Amino acid sequence: MTVQNFAETGAASPHGATLPVLTLKQLDADPHGVFRQYRKDHPVVLHETGGYFVLRFSDVERLGRDPRVGSSGTSFPKSLGISSGAIFDLFEYSMITADGEVHRRRRSPLSRPFAVRTINEMRQSIRRAADDLINGWYRDGEVDFIGEFAAKLPARIIADLLGLPREDIPEFTLLVYEVTKIFSFGLYLDEIGKIEKAAQRLHDYVETALDQHRRRPREDFLSSFLTAAAEADELSPQEILYQIMPLIIGGTDTTRVALATQLALLLQHREQWAAVCDEPSLVPAAVTEAMRFEPTGASTVRVTRENVDVDGTVIPADQLVTLSMMSAMRDESTYHRPDIFDIRRADQPRVHPIFGFGAHRCIGEALARAELEEGLGAIAARIPQLHLDTPLEIKGHMGVRRIDAAMRVFWKP
Ligand code: HEM
Repeated sequence: MTVQNFAETGAASPHGATLPVLTLKQLDADPHGVFRQYRKDHPVVLHETGGYFVLRFSDVERLGRDPRVGSSGTSFPKSLGISSGAIFDLFEYSMITADGEVHRRRRSPLSRPFAVRTINEMRQSIRRAADDLINGWYRDGEVDFIGEFAAKLPARIIADLLGLPREDIPEFTLLVYEVTKIFSFGLYLDEIGKIEKAAQRLHDYVETALDQHRRRPREDFLSSFLTAAAEADELSPQEILYQIMPLIIGGTDTTRVALATQLALLLQHREQWAAVCDEPSLVPAAVTEAMRFEPTGASTVRVTRENVDVDGTVIPADQLVTLSMMSAMRDESTYHRPDIFDIRRADQPRVHPIFGFGAHRCIGEALARAELEEGLGAIAARIPQLHLDTPLEIKGHMGVRRIDAAMRVFWKP
């Protein structure tokens, strides 16, 4: 049975009788087409599993910064019947689901280590890690790009950055891939037990790593984070642990999907792939456009604290609201010919919607961009003769989107 993600919160009953209701069947078949069809006449629609969907760029951007539309707290796990355990605590204690002062306390010790300047100093080592991975399989003439590059690069970088041993990578990546299913749509009720077990194991893994770093501090991120947290004395042990867990989750899976997606899109648009290979300065623009065209994260979820007017449609208080970046990034009033993949487009907004807006804007943006750009730069420089076996299928219209398990690419070495 498919879980009706927001159906049981009681927060999303469809008051707006005149609003269209999008069905899973339609959205599964053609999410971009469905959003396009409704966006022009309807700033807001309903989802058959409950909750309001905001479709236009200007509204997604505005509501993403609007304090009347707050974080969803533990509404989501509760809607799945989860009221305790590691999944629940991830929502209860992490910065992502907190607002105001609590959010500030949880986020501030991480702001400096993830700042653009700090991360940019790591670019050379990210590029070396990418080259290293390519060296491992270049002579074979073919590889599963997801398993052997897109999954490995971000996991290695986040392990090195946090100070986790590289030998732990296979263990924590498998746990992360299981745990991120909770943020994806199309979850099956009988999967929750398995996801909870993985979340508990990931919790235990982080707890052990933190204990080891407490007992024997070293020159790494976890040690300095623990020192900063102890000095500030603002976070409980639970809060400390549940700020690190999302870093491992965010640092492992979203970038994996984005690395595979951007390469697949470029290889499916051969002239643009050739341009990137000839002109490395096009890499950042190619990364930006790939994240717009087929985003890794389709949306973020909020709750209305009071009635909120969205272009004439009033969303009542206490409703779950999905801000659809996926729809916003194909909005015709912001992008010229939005359904065309064009790495040279001149209408990209200064702030990329894919990383969210306002206080919750992705803390890992600089790291994700560095990995996506250095990863793509390394592949384009080393293997311009690369080909894609079959087009990559990118599924989903809410939360973290999913890709096929494997993506075969081949070349003449
Ligand atoms: C392409 C890759 C990524 C995408 C598309 C992405 C997307 C997002 C989005 C949309 C948000 C805002 C969520 C909201 O408003 O509710 C967010 C927040 C967050 N991201 Fe990322 N992210 C990516 C990579 C990363 C990486 C590499 C890390 C960690 C190293 C990370 C860690 C986080 C954390 C901790 C938050 C919560 C920030 C807060 O609530 O203040 N993300 N991300």
